[in-house]
Amino acid sequence: MIYLDNAATSFPKPPEVIRAVKGVMEKIGGNPGRAGHAGALAGGRILEACREAAAAYAGVSAPERVIFCLNCTDALNMAIRGTLHAGDEVLVSHAEHNAVMRPLMGYHDAGKINVRILPPDERGLLSPATVRAAVTPQTALMVLCHASNVTGIIQPAREITRTCHEFGIPLLLDAAQTAGTEDLAAVGADMIAMPGHKGLMGPMGTGLLCLGEGMLPRPLREGGTGSASDSLRQPSLLPDRLESGTHNLPGIAGLLQGLKFTGWHRAAMTEYEQALTLRLLRGLRRIPGVDDYSGPSDLPRTAVVSFNVRGLDSGETADELNRRGIAVRGGLHCAPSIHAWLGTSGAVRASLGPYNTEQDVDALLNAVEDISKSRRT
Ligand code: ALA
Repeated sequence: MIYLDNAATSFPKPPEVIRAVKGVMEKIGGNPGRAGHAGALAGGRILEACREAAAAYAGVSAPERVIFCLNCTDALNMAIRGTLHAGDEVLVSHAEHNAVMRPLMGYHDAGKINVRILPPDERGLLSPATVRAAVTPQTALMVLCHASNVTGIIQPAREITRTCHEFGIPLLLDAAQTAGTEDLAAVGADMIAMPGHKGLMGPMGTGLLCLGEGMLPRPLREGGTGSASDSLRQPSLLPDRLESGTHNLPGIAGLLQGLKFTGWHRAAMTEYEQALTLRLLRGLRRIPGVDDYSGPSDLPRTAVVSFNVRGLDSGETADELNRRGIAVRGGLHCAPSIHAWLGTSGAVRASLGPYNTEQDVDALLNAVEDISKSRRT
């Protein structure tokens, strides 16, 4: 199988990630923070090392401002539900995933908040001027999809964050598609939600919420933290405030190795994936009967290309590629707003990772050309 679904989860994982997960399960008996014996302390050291690595990557001031989550959706829910108040207005881009839109629209439909979806320019980029014009005295948060999981287009996040800050509005960055490959610290966002299992190359079931200064979401889950156990009340200090219950220690051990791996190889990995992506995009654009949704080829982008073979439903094309041994994702990618903007009811998405090769890209191009040709004859 040629795996081209790295935007859903990266595969394969680096050997050191796999070894770390296995190592915890084989060698560490103990629940971090719940006892003082050697195993519990060893587990605690893994949590701390992972927090420190993530804090350095995200540019947050202290490791305790890194919160372990189940995935990026969990991190986004924690940030959104934990910070908004009745009467607030929230600005979002046209490219948001349902992980952002569903929590927001639930509040919006209940009349608790107002959500405003901001339009991009004709290339798919949201401009700081559009954000500036949309701000009202009620605007309490901007949520920005750093890069679309459908088009791969990276938004000018640093400029949009600066614009929000002119008005004292915090920005929550959804880094689902950029964590691991982009410099997130440079954005200066107030909160960053990331999955551990995509670009960061860690295991599924891991995610991070990184909190900037002054950000202190209310907890959505309460319970045992191993700290202040004489109190019946949830601790107020980070990270315990937001981390009740036993951690996913094997997953976090793997994520720590993923953070190290991507930290060491980020520049080379991003450059390599960019080259493969442009090869794919140029190749698709040469095949008659294929439409892609990537916009101008010089836009900053992640390693994601979505397309359709004219006359075929995206699910049919994805199924045919699967029969030919190529794994891609068809449909709406849990991001209906951007499909509405693109005017598509679904697309075939190929997403590349550091272990893909030019041969993988060429195999996809040959298969798509063949499918398109059979469609036209
Ligand atoms: N949100 C992930 C994707 O785009 C799962 O496929």
